[in-house]
Amino acid sequence: MRVAEVARFGGPEVLRIQKAPDPIAGRGEVVIEVVAADVLWVETMIRRGGGGEYFDVTPPYVPGNGVSGRVRSVGDGVDREWIGRAVVAHTGERGAYAEQVAVPVEKLAAVPDGLGLPEAAALLHDGITALTLFECNEIGTGDVVLVVGASGGLGIMSVQLGRARAARVVAVGRDERKLTRIRELGADAVIDSEAPDWVEQARRALGAEGATVILDNVGGSVGESAFSLVAPGGRFSAHGTPSGQFAQIDAGEAERLGVTVRGIQDVQLSDGDIKRLRKEALAEAGSGRLTPVIGQTFPLSRAADAHAAIEARTVFGKTLLLT
Ligand SMILES: NC(=O)c1ccc[n+]([C@@H]2O[C@H](COP(=O)([O-])OP(=O)(O)OC[C@H]3O[C@@H](n4cnc5c(N)ncnc54)[C@H](OP(=O)(O)O)[C@@H]3O)[C@@H](O)[C@H]2O)c1
Repeated sequence: MRVAEVARFGGPEVLRIQKAPDPIAGRGEVVIEVVAADVLWVETMIRRGGGGEYFDVTPPYVPGNGVSGRVRSVGDGVDREWIGRAVVAHTGERGAYAEQVAVPVEKLAAVPDGLGLPEAAALLHDGITALTLFECNEIGTGDVVLVVGASGGLGIMSVQLGRARAARVVAVGRDERKLTRIRELGADAVIDSEAPDWVEQARRALGAEGATVILDNVGGSVGESAFSLVAPGGRFSAHGTPSGQFAQIDAGEAERLGVTVRGIQDVQLSDGDIKRLRKEALAEAGSGRLTPVIGQTFPLSRAADAHAAIEARTVFGKTLLLT
């Protein structure tokens, strides 16, 4: 089979197509014929060599942690009924940019009828993380939510959940075409973070109280400026870092305002949580409350182009590799 492998840390060009042996399902495992592999911003950071201690990986390695496809074979101890079924699975940190993957059967979830395999792959991370953010920040019908970095996979899912579950959702992004699409996806207002007075514009759009919850997908100075928009007693999630670093929030100021600050550590999930939330994400998509927005797809052989597009910020919503 073919895999897209990071030969050494570096630019997108270090992603090369290689031949690898077809995986064999061991005891308790299945082999999936991959249809779509999820591509995440964080995978571009790790490929550049920026994974640090948390994403400790040494090239060569095959990136990716989520696929959809059909079960091709099963190992001992696995029900043969799985063969041929449409499934999604996390591959465990690495290995998803491939034509086939072997995973333990407990990592599988069946894709409900009516949901496409690419759409199911698009939910695997963004859908689960958006649900986690809404759960841990206890977002409900009384909340005014500000989504910072609303054009990405996680941002769009958060806008959609905000529309369904909160009182009001205001989205911050850039690029007129992207902002128009975010508006069409259900944001009550969209703000261009490249406008010099974007914070004032956001304040007006949020209303007198400000945002009861801020979900910061980008970090850096944009995320830090957004902190001034959180209502006293509100919640701020500083889990995003594409701008270069997580928003640095002054703990004393947060305490003075009674604001709860959460971060990337609050979206780390146990296997049990992943299983539960994966089911919920698939069900939300089945009922139409979450609609994965697949902005662009690339064949596996062009994995390098997928990474280059993410880094050039020309993408919108989810990026997938199709085999
Ligand atoms: N997806 C998940 O399940 C998940 C889980 C845990 C944590 N996170 C974190 O959440 C953040 C967003 O993830 P994602 O998967 O949604 O990524 P994504 O789809 O690539 O979206 C990235 C977002 O960041 C913005 N952005 C990109 N480069 C930027 C820069 N240099 N400065 C400011 N904004 C920039 C993009 O907006 P433009 O349109 O302006 O480029 C887009 O809104 C990442 O830090 C990721 O590690 C995500």
